[in-house]
Amino acid sequence: MIGFLAFVSAIPASAPATLKDAFKGSFLIGAAVSASITAGADDRDAAIVKAQFNSISPENELKWERIHPQPGRYNFDPADRYVNFGEKNHMFIVGHCLVWHNQTPAWVFRDDKGNFVDREVLLERMYDHIRTVVGRYKSRIQSWDVVNEALDEDGTLRQSPWLKIIGPDYIAKAFQFAHEADPAAILNYNDYNLENETKRNGAVKLIRDLQAQGIPVSVVGLQGHLHLTWPSADVEDATIAAFAALGVKVAITELDIDALPPATRKQTADVTLSVQARAELNPYAAGLPASVQEALAKRYADLFGVFLKHRDAVTRVTFWGVTDGDSWLNNWPVKGRTSYPLLFDRSGQPKPAFEAVVREAIQ
Ligand code: XIL
Repeated sequence: MIGFLAFVSAIPASAPATLKDAFKGSFLIGAAVSASITAGADDRDAAIVKAQFNSISPENELKWERIHPQPGRYNFDPADRYVNFGEKNHMFIVGHCLVWHNQTPAWVFRDDKGNFVDREVLLERMYDHIRTVVGRYKSRIQSWDVVNEALDEDGTLRQSPWLKIIGPDYIAKAFQFAHEADPAAILNYNDYNLENETKRNGAVKLIRDLQAQGIPVSVVGLQGHLHLTWPSADVEDATIAAFAALGVKVAITELDIDALPPATRKQTADVTLSVQARAELNPYAAGLPASVQEALAKRYADLFGVFLKHRDAVTRVTFWGVTDGDSWLNNWPVKGRTSYPLLFDRSGQPKPAFEAVVREAIQ
């Protein structure tokens, strides 16, 4: 505790009190928002978002299963509320995501008999989806995660239904369709674990291939589902540098730092992973010990130091949620844990990690 107080008292009284002010001139600061925030059902979190952030991402509302649950039926209301919220608050509005293998209904890939459709049919469905969704929010959603998680851990293309049915050019096609629907939109390739060198090399190759074909990919999104000990600041630094060297911008698109014991040996952010609950996987149900709180604050400061070092390449840092209570990490990959991965605690108060991040900005 003494350590933390010393830490907080190091912030000058004149320091900016909000994240968006602290990083003004460096990069945008965003948060993923839930439907309850944008529907006016969570005033506390909405107030934090308005005060602290200048960009939003939709946690779920623009994923295929939500916005296009059945053939020919689009569910735009929650997405409209999301975009309206962002516009009303003058925010940089992100679309997430157009082409992914998860949270995509099974019908997308199948015909009436349940067999896989062929390349032409799937390309047509992809075209219809992208044209409709991107077109509806043209010039209102500024940046789209066009393709999410196309790579496997070994750096090769993931064997998703998109790849199996269309072939490797599904990625280029998705970007072309998105560009056609909104030529001004900033188009992102988004993935996790790009800090791991093998997967990163695959992403570098993928971006180079797209660039060689003139495909308008301008940002690599590093999801940033990170841990207390992984990856090191040096590895994060090398990762951003590798993409910056390609001439693309980098966005940290889904930042959270998991302080709970890892549930699996393998580092992943695969949303389909599910691990049986065990008491030892949920050690801080009664509160986070001060030592872990401080370790988290230090970790956040170190990583923001890296993001700031690369402020020429890094355009946005978005947290995946607002307060610890909202985080998907309370229920993934183990249900019902008490997780502490964000900058605001369960009662909406800034944590030591918040102070640490602001302090990093004003150094
Ligand atoms: C997560 C959401 O936070 C959860 O609410 C949902 O149940 C599953 O998806 N990578 C991504 C995000 O690209 O879309 C995921 O979001 C987290 C991992």
